[in-house]
Amino acid sequence: MSTKTGTIVANWKMNMNLQHMHDFFHQLKMPSQNKHRVLIAPQAPLLVPLKEQSTKHHIGLASQNCSSETKGAYTGEISADVLSSIGVEFVILGHSERRQYFGEKEDILSKKIHQALLSNLKVIYCIGESLEQREKNALSETLTLQLSALKSITEKSWWEKVVIAYEPVWAIGTGKVATTEQVKEVHDFLQKTIMTMFNLKSCPPIIYGGSVNAENAQSLFTLDSVSGFLVGGASLKAHDFARICSVQ
Ligand code: PGA
Repeated sequence: MSTKTGTIVANWKMNMNLQHMHDFFHQLKMPSQNKHRVLIAPQAPLLVPLKEQSTKHHIGLASQNCSSETKGAYTGEISADVLSSIGVEFVILGHSERRQYFGEKEDILSKKIHQALLSNLKVIYCIGESLEQREKNALSETLTLQLSALKSITEKSWWEKVVIAYEPVWAIGTGKVATTEQVKEVHDFLQKTIMTMFNLKSCPPIIYGGSVNAENAQSLFTLDSVSGFLVGGASLKAHDFARICSVQ
């Protein structure tokens, strides 16, 4: 049996209300000897009620976003500081839906990463290419540009608080999971690039996201360079999510 441990994150996106959350935990049967770091990222108003439930299951809290500003007159924004103060552990930044629908680019993401780390949050930084970028042979160029947002990690010790999520845009919510060969190729590339770009001796963990489900998670997890998953659709069903958390 493999002793590898990973980080498995449920990204609930703009799904699940308070009642759905209660139903989810009512049905959730986590693997009895769960060895992975498991996190749930609900919509922000559910972070506090979720905490009560998730602690019992040893599940940590993640936010789906945070502001690039510290505090002040920014109506509607959520600061990294307030998230940290209520016990949120991680923040997801750079998700392709934030990039696509809210125009977030490297400059703003770089500031968000800095704010999060300053407030003692850990960061799951998402990157990934569109189908068009892949077909145009712009894969490495796209990923390298996205990685440049990590330049705001100005303290060496902060690297221990970073997880990279490789999520090819064409695999998100489409049912088209990347093959193990594709994932291996990109994760290997990312490991080398990150270490060179930022002069690191080891690379932060890289998790995979994009149509991960209870059927395909195990074979992806056997790859050395896959340190866990960011799961959207399949994380909304307690049974499927628990099965993903049982990968070895
Ligand atoms: P999916 O979403 O699992 O539904 O493809 C993953 C994500 O967007 O993080």
